[in-house]
Amino acid sequence: MVIYEDKIILAPMVRIGTLPMRLLALRYGADLVYSEELIDWKFLRSKRTVNDILHTVDYVDQTDGTIVFRTCNEEKEKVILQLGTCDAGRALKVAKLVENDVAAIDINMGCPKEFSIKGGMGVALLAQPDKAYNILKTLVDNLSIPVTCKIRIQETPEKTLELVEKLASSGISAIGIHGRTRDERPQHAVHTDFIKHVSQRISIPVIANGGSKEIEKYGDIFKFKDLCGSSSVMLARAAEWNCSIFRKEGLLPMDTVIKDYLKLAVDYDNSPSNTKYCIQNILRELQDTPRGRQFLDCQTLKQMCAIWDLEDYCFKKQSEYHNMGIASRWQVNPINLEPPNKKCKTEDTNTDIIQSKVCFIRANFTDSLKTKVFNQCVLPVMTYGAETWTLTVGLVHRCKVAQRVMEQARIHPYG
Ligand SMILES: Cc1cc2nc3c(=O)[nH]c(=O)nc-3n(C[C@H](O)[C@H](O)[C@H](O)COP(=O)(O)O)c2cc1C
Repeated sequence: MVIYEDKIILAPMVRIGTLPMRLLALRYGADLVYSEELIDWKFLRSKRTVNDILHTVDYVDQTDGTIVFRTCNEEKEKVILQLGTCDAGRALKVAKLVENDVAAIDINMGCPKEFSIKGGMGVALLAQPDKAYNILKTLVDNLSIPVTCKIRIQETPEKTLELVEKLASSGISAIGIHGRTRDERPQHAVHTDFIKHVSQRISIPVIANGGSKEIEKYGDIFKFKDLCGSSSVMLARAAEWNCSIFRKEGLLPMDTVIKDYLKLAVDYDNSPSNTKYCIQNILRELQDTPRGRQFLDCQTLKQMCAIWDLEDYCFKKQSEYHNMGIASRWQVNPINLEPPNKKCKTEDTNTDIIQSKVCFIRANFTDSLKTKVFNQCVLPVMTYGAETWTLTVGLVHRCKVAQRVMEQARIHPYG
């Protein structure tokens, strides 16, 4: 059972908090790690699959074959799945699905983005404390694992405490508090005094959050904790920029962190687009350097690995997985998944059309061919993340062009 006292935690971050980053944080010293926020209805259209090759548990979206959530044994006791929801019934259904794969469930009540608010999720729930309470109570009463939520502060310390007391009465095991109001942005100062006011008066552990701008080294985490008087601390941006912030021994150079991250991305067959996004957020302004620009042109894990001298590592690992029969991203066939994908009209196929899934790597196409191909016979019909497209190669009498497409795409099982 998760203990929330005296913990240093990787905060939930959309697109950053996928398996490789969570494992990196744990290996560097984080005690607990949150997943990125996953929206309940998206999770509900996924199917749980055990991946014997990667030794992971994958929740695969049945409509497009993408991995909604991937986890493994190494993090099983330490990973907290964060849900975006506005409905107790749906939240419970998802929580029941994952109950045996994760250490705890957290409900996001702090996201101020329009997408969340319009859907009645995130901070919208804080304006409806009864509804927020009901979601938490439903989960607490029906799950065998701990339940928590992550909120933003209210306009005053007193109002924040009042809200926390209400939510805590649902039986949650801890509460994450981001010390900014719903209208404040990351550049605004964090209200450590608000968090302290609550920490001193509430019996459940408070996980303080929002201090990344002032947290430049390991010791700073404890200064922030003291200011907030909290049980634990949760870091988002400080970890996004340099995940080795969790190391007691001190920060590692950026290139070491990128290499450690890339190896995990390869080990767990992370999608190239997600891997690229995470590295971009480590590189930050260094993207505008010759090496940064070279990196921005990358579309495959192998290309990214080459920049950090990990090309051989990547090649060996991918070949190993391939030989073991891994179903890589381009092999995922939504047509075979349930429910049937209505957008894919394969019935229209006549004898003049051949269909083939290829990995579309933009850099492998010349501009002239790209135009010709798109005009004449290749239609992108599906997107797996940003980097791997399924193409319908049509019109056999223009087959020569199709063949050139295949050659130029240098079809490879890994995008
Ligand atoms: C890239 C990014 C993605 C985020 N995604 C989430 C999320 O999925 N769920 C959530 O509750 N908060 C999310 N947040 C907010 C952080 O968890 C955190 O509350 C905020 O960044 C303040 O903490 P910090 O000062 O340590 O960065 C995100 C923040 C960033 C920078």
